[in-house]
Amino acid sequence: MLRSVRNLIAPSILAADFARLGDEVNNVAPYVDMVHVDVMDGHFVPNISLGIPVIASLRKVTDLKFDCHLMMQNADRYFPELKAAGADLVSVHLEVYPDPRRAAERASAEGMEFSIAINPPTEFAAVAPFVELCDMLVIMSVHPGFGGQEFIDDSLRKMESARNFIESHDLATDIEVDGGIGAANIKRAQDAGANVFVAGSSVFGKKDPVGAVRELRRQIESRESV
Ligand code: DX5
Ligand code: ZN
Repeated sequence: MLRSVRNLIAPSILAADFARLGDEVNNVAPYVDMVHVDVMDGHFVPNISLGIPVIASLRKVTDLKFDCHLMMQNADRYFPELKAAGADLVSVHLEVYPDPRRAAERASAEGMEFSIAINPPTEFAAVAPFVELCDMLVIMSVHPGFGGQEFIDDSLRKMESARNFIESHDLATDIEVDGGIGAANIKRAQDAGANVFVAGSSVFGKKDPVGAVRELRRQIESRESV
């Protein structure tokens, strides 16, 4: 059975002005489906971004879904605090959790959706046994740690494998593409099988973030009407 797939836009606040974070999010809120929150620990990735207090502050100004991408070791240790701060979905990395079953259980126990992210060198086959645990799968299309990097074309192949797997197993797992997405390539990612699109610098890095989101939406909705 073919399920209908919803296309969702998740702007990454990594590219926003942190001094005006609430305003930045509320400006685009009517046009987006969730907020992508990149948490970096300076160990798993060579950068530090933001953490639980920032998520809690942002939760006070928006009801949007928080898609928390945890680029960190021991991520599950912080699930209760993340939930209390307002996280709705947590993504952990397969490279940190080669067996993510316990982390999936802990997310579920906290009442959060669960997702696994894979880095560019990690093949889809490595995560395939765990897709059924996931509400979403994240295919990294850049090496994690920094916004504004160039999209890695090889990730398209993994989106295709993931979409084939999800459809052939009659699963409803979302496929998120994260990194280097903009108006010029979002449709290619959609055609390859992604349905949740993270966009950082191509939204908050622009003078007109609302216009940028609307253009992304236009690119992916042109196919839906066919
Ligand atoms: C990279 C992060 C991405 C990043 C995307 O480590 O996981 O979510 O914010 O930023 P852009 O869209 O600028 O590549
Ligand atoms: Zn991310």
